[in-house]
Amino acid sequence: MADRDLTSKRSHLLNESVIREMTRLATTHKAVNLAQGFPDFGAPENIQAHARDAVTRGINQYTITWGSRRLREAIAKKAAWFNRIQVDPETMITVGCGSTECMMAALMAVVDPGDEVIVFEPFYENYGPDSILCGATPRFVQLSPPEWSIDFEQVERAFNAKTRALVLNTPHNPTGKVFTREELTRLAEMAVRHDVVVITDEIYEHILFDGREHLSIATLPGMANRTITIGGPSKTFSVTGWRIGYCLASPALTLAIRKVHDFLTVCAPAPLQDAAAAALDEAESYYPRLHLEYTARREKLGHILEEAGLSCRKPEGAYYYLADISSFGFRDDVEFSRFLVTEVGVAVVPGSSFWMPPGGSRWIRFCFCKTDATLDAAATRLGALKDKASQYLATAGRAAAS
Ligand SMILES: Cc1ncc(COP(=O)(O)O)c(C=O)c1O
Repeated sequence: MADRDLTSKRSHLLNESVIREMTRLATTHKAVNLAQGFPDFGAPENIQAHARDAVTRGINQYTITWGSRRLREAIAKKAAWFNRIQVDPETMITVGCGSTECMMAALMAVVDPGDEVIVFEPFYENYGPDSILCGATPRFVQLSPPEWSIDFEQVERAFNAKTRALVLNTPHNPTGKVFTREELTRLAEMAVRHDVVVITDEIYEHILFDGREHLSIATLPGMANRTITIGGPSKTFSVTGWRIGYCLASPALTLAIRKVHDFLTVCAPAPLQDAAAAALDEAESYYPRLHLEYTARREKLGHILEEAGLSCRKPEGAYYYLADISSFGFRDDVEFSRFLVTEVGVAVVPGSSFWMPPGGSRWIRFCFCKTDATLDAAATRLGALKDKASQYLATAGRAAAS
């Protein structure tokens, strides 16, 4: 009897991330890892202390499924002063296991199989698979380099009777784009006209540069009842492993999100919810420091990449540089990334991770949520990039680009 395939058709629609291969190669070749977007420095000491303290105080059992009262109150306070979004912690906040789970719960709460979801491309690599897991079809709309601008006619054409949601991410991974007020206003107007929900991932809301201010689309006319705003402490407080995130939404949308979330994960880690609440309560004086530190890291990596001959646009927010490698003469981003990790000793993410095939082959992504020592080590290695690229291409029988 032929072996039956024991796996679902749905699982076949998902491809294993190239990032995993890069991480494996990075370990084998002892590369400096500028691939995965997590900090290699500790969370602020007071925040670590809150986590230890919460466990010791016995906060170790399930919380109410949509999040501890203390954390929801802290989030509501922050949403009011920072995002200018007024939320009732009793009916408009759902705490989940990272903004990753929140995005999945939000999509499952508003999208049915056969529906369509508009996603800007390039996109944070989870959004495509998230839509597929809901049985929905992602409809991609290109952001155009160098400014990653929006073609609103293309957005308009992407809407149809099946469209239920538009996914936004600002500040944006991987481009560093911060959506402007004008862009968000036009998108809000379209969302209202087409009667769809906007699910906005604002996980990098505190990492903005050059005087930019964060704007939540939920605050724009007509958007309060049709926006799900997602955030969390992962990036702001360097606690990506804590797995805490939240959705802010109208009571009606929140009811649906909470039901999905309950059956997905029950609740986020209880002691870390308590510590995240303490972190938020103490954070107003922390944000300026965060801003200064990330500005310095952005300048440092920008300088390193420029010296190495990599052409990049300065990010407006988040903590990534997207470098254009088309002048190097490699076949594509995957070949370049493999070469970079094995021959130069620096791990990055190939651009194709953020586009649907065959997109992204001109780009690679570097992250700068790293210590000075890590960035210095990357600088030393990238200093040899041009010579090693010429050698590599000559060995492969191809000419180096000028
Ligand atoms: C745009 C974006 N959203 C969400 C996440 C994941 O956030 P969390 O740790 O809260 O799940 C990331 C992590 O890289 C990200 O870049």
